[in-house]
Amino acid sequence: MKVLPIKTKSKHYKIYIGNNIVNQIDKITKKENINFEKSLFIIDRNVPNSIIKKIKSKIFSEKKFIYLFNASEKNKNLSSINSILKILLKNNFTRNDVIICLGGGITGDVSGFAASIYKRGLKFINIPSTLLSQVDSSIGGKTGINNKFGKNLIGSFYQPDLVISDTKLLESLPRREIICGYAEIFKHSLIKDKKLFFFLDKNLEKIVKLKKKFIEKAILESCKIKKEIVEKDEKESNLRKSLNLGHTFGHAYEAALNYSKKLNHGEAVLYGILSAAKLSKKIRSLKNNDYDLIVSHLSKLNFDNLNKFFKTKDLNRIIKFMILDKKNISKKINFITINKIGSVNTKNQISPPKIKQFLKIELTK
Ligand SMILES: NC(=O)c1ccc[n+]([C@@H]2O[C@H](COP(=O)([O-])OP(=O)(O)OC[C@H]3O[C@@H](n4cnc5c(N)ncnc54)[C@H](O)[C@@H]3O)[C@@H](O)[C@H]2O)c1
Repeated sequence: MKVLPIKTKSKHYKIYIGNNIVNQIDKITKKENINFEKSLFIIDRNVPNSIIKKIKSKIFSEKKFIYLFNASEKNKNLSSINSILKILLKNNFTRNDVIICLGGGITGDVSGFAASIYKRGLKFINIPSTLLSQVDSSIGGKTGINNKFGKNLIGSFYQPDLVISDTKLLESLPRREIICGYAEIFKHSLIKDKKLFFFLDKNLEKIVKLKKKFIEKAILESCKIKKEIVEKDEKESNLRKSLNLGHTFGHAYEAALNYSKKLNHGEAVLYGILSAAKLSKKIRSLKNNDYDLIVSHLSKLNFDNLNKFFKTKDLNRIIKFMILDKKNISKKINFITINKIGSVNTKNQISPPKIKQFLKIELTK
């Protein structure tokens, strides 16, 4: 079992990473001195029952409540938050009580947001159950919900008191969900760590097949990168923006396909990273050698050409979503570009017509 301390300005907490460690949750909470009388478990319905039972039996609390959640972007909304707040209020939870989340990024974002606003904050333990949530959303304290105006537009920064990332929980995930989380691990390597990139490139199949030693190392190294970034820039004033690598393109691709099953979020991010690499090469920030390594890695995962999803007639729609990206601060579109594997530039502003021209050439290749 590995322990990664996270030290942000607002809170210090630890991430425990290992296989079958939920068995030790009672010991871990004791060691971390996290005490409570009442607990509300917010649980993704798709987490296998055997795991839910194990975790519930290991947590000692005078009163346990359960909220089973159908995790979907549609349910990541204010109405779910209201249902959770109602349980907390009806049962007179105090700020010394706890929400324990067991689920992926959607359940984590909803649980964290509820924890942050109930009586201005109660204790929050996160047990992420998808690869994406273990390497990305459970670290750094962003919480939030969607509404009709867009994704994650309402939310808060609220750090958990403890994160337990158990790789055993990943065994019930479909391969597509594993690739989704892998996209973020790969992204982290491009942002900060060429050594991690080579480790991923060499061991790709073992990692996505969840071979114990390899998946644990990939998760740990990836978490270390996100840790370093959020510790320096908790509220995303600059450095944290680097984590958006591949996301300006990726968000536009998934939105242009109406968030259909054709392309899930992680897959869109992988295509987004491919586009960011191509753009970086075009503006001459990324040299051929590293560019070839990135493209070859993505092609091993079968992410090679956007033509499968889009034709030139879709360009205006894609650009429209890029312009709407909440991270833009001027009429130009903000892109994270790659300088070399392990280093990115967060300050690239490119005009919509230029990016349209770039994508047109890519789509007609
Ligand atoms: N807060 C952040 O910093 C941050 C960062 C990245 C993404 N996010 C958010 O995270 C969300 C995506 O997270 P996600 O990819 O984990 O999606 P998710 O929570 O929807 O989980 C993916 C699917 O896996 C199922 N599932 C969860 N655990 C399972 C398990 N152990 N076995 C089988 N199935 C399981 C879920 O029910 C769901 O169908 C998005 O809403 C995104 O906005 C937040």
